[in-house]
Amino acid sequence: MYNGHAETHISTDKENNASKQGTKDTSLLHTTLWLTGLPCSGKTTLAKRLKERLESPGFRVMHLDADEIRRGLSADLGFSLEDRRENIRRVAHVAKLFNDNGNFVITSFVSPTDELRTMARDIIGNFILVFVKCNLNTCEMRDTKGMYKKARSGQIKEFTGVSSPFEEPSRADIIIDTEHNSIEDCVKELMQKIGVF
Ligand SMILES: Nc1ncnc2c1ncn2[C@@H]1O[C@H](COP(=O)(O)OP(=O)(O)O)[C@@H](O)[C@H]1O
Ligand SMILES: [Mg+2]
Repeated sequence: MYNGHAETHISTDKENNASKQGTKDTSLLHTTLWLTGLPCSGKTTLAKRLKERLESPGFRVMHLDADEIRRGLSADLGFSLEDRRENIRRVAHVAKLFNDNGNFVITSFVSPTDELRTMARDIIGNFILVFVKCNLNTCEMRDTKGMYKKARSGQIKEFTGVSSPFEEPSRADIIIDTEHNSIEDCVKELMQKIGVF
């Protein structure tokens, strides 16, 4: 169960206005839910579903996804540890800006090491780390974009899980097991754990 910095509900505008005048606002509308996990573990799928669920009652939700960010904002970066660090640094600052403007942010990035996730936590502040847990074999079987296959045949270098490391998070606030549960059950569990269900 998550019991970190954010409150366990999404605040109303009235609550937000009240808290803006005083101490740091820790409502979910100023929080980032940071999904980490192997390629094909289900980060993008869960982020999209969760966004849909939260938007229908009218919450402001921003989703920052690795594929889109790498097509634009981080198009100049590769997959060395240094470039991954720079990618995560940029994303964390963007997430922080959206949080400061009253948006709940969901990010879906492999973010393979504790160092990167800690950097994101330090930049963002109101940060909930979700480990999207699925073993390598299952991820590789899913291979939604054929990337594992390319990595195994050497066509892609520095691919997480194959030729670049993935460290399981040592301080996840929430763990979601996508290997043994359906997408729907995972989304429900996530909503329960952040307190919006
Ligand atoms: N419980 C689950 N949660 C999320 N995705 C799941 C789950 N079970 C199966 N999948 C499938 O796994 C794949 C995950 O792909 P994707 O969300 O793109 O992963 P990632 O963004 O982590 O690389 C999708 O094809 C999705 O339908
Ligand atoms: Mg993805």
